[in-house]
Amino acid sequence: MKVLFVSPEISPFARTGGLGEVVGSLPFALKRAGIDVRVLCPQHKCCKSLPIRILKKEITFKHKSKDITSKLGVLNDKNYPIPIYFLINDHLFDREGIYADQNGNYPDNSLRAFVLSHAACELEKVTRWKPDILHAHDWMAAPTCGYLNAKQEKTSRLKPQGSLLTIHNLEHQGVFNHEDFLESGLPLKYWAMNGFEHHGRLNLLKGGIQHADKISTVSPTYAKEIRSVKNGQNLEECLLFRGADLIGILNGIDEEAWDPLTDASIPHPIDPSAPSVGKKKCKESILKEFELSFPNKPLLGVVSRLYQQKGLDLLLSALPEILKSTDASFIILGSGAEDQEKGFLDMAKTYPEKIAVKIGFDDTLARRIFAGSDFFLMPSRFEPCGLAQQYAMRYGSVPIARKTGGLADTIKPRTDESKDHTGYLFDQADKISLTHAIEQACHDWRTEEFYSEMQTRTMQISCSWELAAQKYAQLYKWILAKD
Ligand code: GLC
Repeated sequence: MKVLFVSPEISPFARTGGLGEVVGSLPFALKRAGIDVRVLCPQHKCCKSLPIRILKKEITFKHKSKDITSKLGVLNDKNYPIPIYFLINDHLFDREGIYADQNGNYPDNSLRAFVLSHAACELEKVTRWKPDILHAHDWMAAPTCGYLNAKQEKTSRLKPQGSLLTIHNLEHQGVFNHEDFLESGLPLKYWAMNGFEHHGRLNLLKGGIQHADKISTVSPTYAKEIRSVKNGQNLEECLLFRGADLIGILNGIDEEAWDPLTDASIPHPIDPSAPSVGKKKCKESILKEFELSFPNKPLLGVVSRLYQQKGLDLLLSALPEILKSTDASFIILGSGAEDQEKGFLDMAKTYPEKIAVKIGFDDTLARRIFAGSDFFLMPSRFEPCGLAQQYAMRYGSVPIARKTGGLADTIKPRTDESKDHTGYLFDQADKISLTHAIEQACHDWRTEEFYSEMQTRTMQISCSWELAAQKYAQLYKWILAKD
């Protein structure tokens, strides 16, 4: 079976978040499951210096009176076992950011999405490799499903190809104007309620949802939640309409890249079957690095973007209270909303012995925080899957998280009766619920045996990509089995 991933991001070459990481690691597991998987991604500025072999034929996108031509390049790296095709169009993609720069979102983002998605359907003409399935990721690749249907309407004699749309975050939908739709070259009849039109505007994700053969999202709980007004981000009706074809497949993580026994960026290896020695050393080291004072008190870590979704404003407002009712210390690494960045920096100034803050994104520091902390905080308002809690768990940092989406699917909550719990889940996205969960965790930490048993269990949970790859493979088969 041949599958083409279509994505605006792929780690380690171009990423802004979880989407890039998934597209950079899931293909390896699919390949192990016997699937010939390849990836199509724009050649952003950050991919310019990669060794790329440029293919001869061009891809032409008909745009108004003028054609837009792009080329395809293949990553020329023998150590990289998955073929990566880069869509080369400097005018559209050779830019500072993937979606935006310091002036905000690029005004031609819809056109960039159309050119990428259209190229996915044309790729076979350049590569002579025809995918059975086009697997589009998020709004920027979502129109792929529409272009494929338009192509199949014209060429119904050919062996059909199928499409899968994976939603990594329903919040980002790619919303533009009707005029922008007219630039797509898609059939005009696709401008409809059961197509790309949503309340009078162009909605690329919705178009993908309506046109895809199947739709997946990155955890089973999120797949249920998004059918409701509360979590459907205004697309709940169309998700309900496509409900029979919508499935949740839990993300895995790359267990080799995230291995606390071999990770050179943490100060001491941590053995998942006997973590206490390694954890102790890593904790001492991170406390020293951040000049925090309390080795014998619970240390809580945060590694996150600081947006509304992540709920860290709740932590910010609860902190003064938590510092009174517990003896916890905090290390926070993140960036995002200015008021949150400032709020955390101010907190660190007020409580320098207990709170340390670093604004930014730093992969190796993130690893040291996972390795050095006793607990990991993730109070997300919604969370399609969440990768950080899975990394933290693997590095022996017990998660304290909101019961939503992938957090609910990856963490077994501590309750009065639980025996196999691997963390703490609280129901409501409010200050009081978060505070209670942290208080309970800090209380449990005092009972050494209780905590260390939970920590060992947490570290031993398998979250490899293999299971997910089997499920995707099954889904691809269902798609091809359609008549
Ligand atoms: C998005 C979601 C996150 C998910 C990731 C990968 O970033 O917000 O929850 O883990 O995509 O699917």
